[in-house]
Amino acid sequence: MAHTVGIDIGGTKIAAGVVDEQGVVVARTRRETPAKAPADIRAAVADAVAELATTHTVTAVGVAAAGFVDAARSTVVFAPNLAWRDEPLRAGLEAVLERPVVVENDANAAAWGEYRFGGAVGGDGAPVDDVLLLTVGTGLGGGIIAGGHLQRGAHGAAAEVGHARAVPGGHPCGCGQRGCWEQYVSGSALVREARALVRGAEAPGKPLLDAAGGEVDAIDGPLVTRLAVEGDPAAVQLLAELGRWLGECAASLVAVLDPAVVVVGGGVSAAGDLLLAPARESFAASLSGGGHRAPAPLRLAELGNDAGMIGAADLARTL
Ligand code: BGC
Ligand code: NA
Ligand code: ZN
Repeated sequence: MAHTVGIDIGGTKIAAGVVDEQGVVVARTRRETPAKAPADIRAAVADAVAELATTHTVTAVGVAAAGFVDAARSTVVFAPNLAWRDEPLRAGLEAVLERPVVVENDANAAAWGEYRFGGAVGGDGAPVDDVLLLTVGTGLGGGIIAGGHLQRGAHGAAAEVGHARAVPGGHPCGCGQRGCWEQYVSGSALVREARALVRGAEAPGKPLLDAAGGEVDAIDGPLVTRLAVEGDPAAVQLLAELGRWLGECAASLVAVLDPAVVVVGGGVSAAGDLLLAPARESFAASLSGGGHRAPAPLRLAELGNDAGMIGAADLARTL
């Protein structure tokens, strides 16, 4: 059977998988994301594909990239959290992989994956054609399926919800602006707040600091989630605060898009209800016309953190 490979290049890791026509991952591997040099990212991707191609015939490769991708699905024009600036990713990868490559924004790819194979279903379980996907990871990404079509905008940069403004004059963002949603709804925001808490108030932050071996800079998102799952009140609060921002963000976007469902993915969504329960509450409280409209349910991505990889692999199938 003809398989394609999906590659999700995020701010911290590269996930690669061989995906079949039903969206099932039949083999996988991963690499750390080389933070600085685009050539290193290319090399890491080539290495991952080579590994997967030893056991499977790979016809094409779909890349989900954490940045603004051009209309031709070839160039990453800008990546707030990675070293890409006008990076000709498709050409660079096709040269080393010797297979057709398509590049799509990571959150768009995840939205596509969830729409095709995941939990993009309505309250009655029937598939829906209008989906908003939010991925909460290093950054905050958005993907929109409207009327069954992935929305790419005029230049490929639609649904960059992470860089819509939440707070005028707020926290500075990697995109060059201030107060973007990403600075309040992301793994980076979670880590910033966790470290600030530990630096500022000894008692509540003590378990977090201890779990990080006394190193403030060793506090990362998975650590906060682990402590929250174990019941540490400060970690639970940190995730709840993130969740409240997420709910407000979702409400603003639902006001524009009116999707049938809002799907939440990305690394931080591993926190499950610790994130989603407060998000649902603030979503309901912030939704315009709430009480007079059918509120879109907020759901975890069925494909979890594989949504981008699976979606990208599926997009590569139609090359
Ligand atoms: C980037 C998006 C990306 C998102 C999630 C944002 O900072 O601008 O392109 O989809 O992070 O990775
Ligand atoms: Na997007
Ligand atoms: Zn921004």
